[in-house]
Amino acid sequence: MVVPGDGRGRELGFPTANLEMDEGDLPEDGIYAAWARIDDDQPLWAASVSVGANPTFDGDRARRVEVHLHDADLELYGRRLFVTLVALLRPTLRFDRVDALIAQTAEDVIRCRALLADRARVRS
Ligand SMILES: Cc1cc2nc3c(=O)[nH]c(=O)nc-3n(C[C@H](O)[C@H](O)[C@H](O)COP(=O)(O)O)c2cc1C
Repeated sequence: MVVPGDGRGRELGFPTANLEMDEGDLPEDGIYAAWARIDDDQPLWAASVSVGANPTFDGDRARRVEVHLHDADLELYGRRLFVTLVALLRPTLRFDRVDALIAQTAEDVIRCRALLADRARVRS
């Protein structure tokens, strides 16, 4: 279920849907390439996913799953997002500067796109 986050993602240029999940269901911290489906909608969205406590901003905060849908900035509060993690890209890092996080996130999205496009070709 998508719940409000801190509303910072859009400012950073990478809006994310924050998922409400039980601690026990959380995957290992890290940045992942993923496919996401909104409720029962047909299309699958390519996505970049962050699992962790956003250590760049606040190391004490609870761990959580944040989903950045590629090429989309949708209002998703209260909707269900079904996410399949495809590959782990890297560990979650603490950046000293926000612009370093933004640059790294931009690189992550490029890598996720390439990886997911490759897998989609293999599948079809
Ligand atoms: C692809 C991607 C990679 C991310 N990598 C990190 C990271 O390494 N370290 C970190 O502190 N936060 C990382 N984040 C999380 C951002 O800090 C977070 O999305 C942003 O602060 C917005 O949070 P909000 O939705 O609560 O406003 C990443 C987010 C995305 C989408």
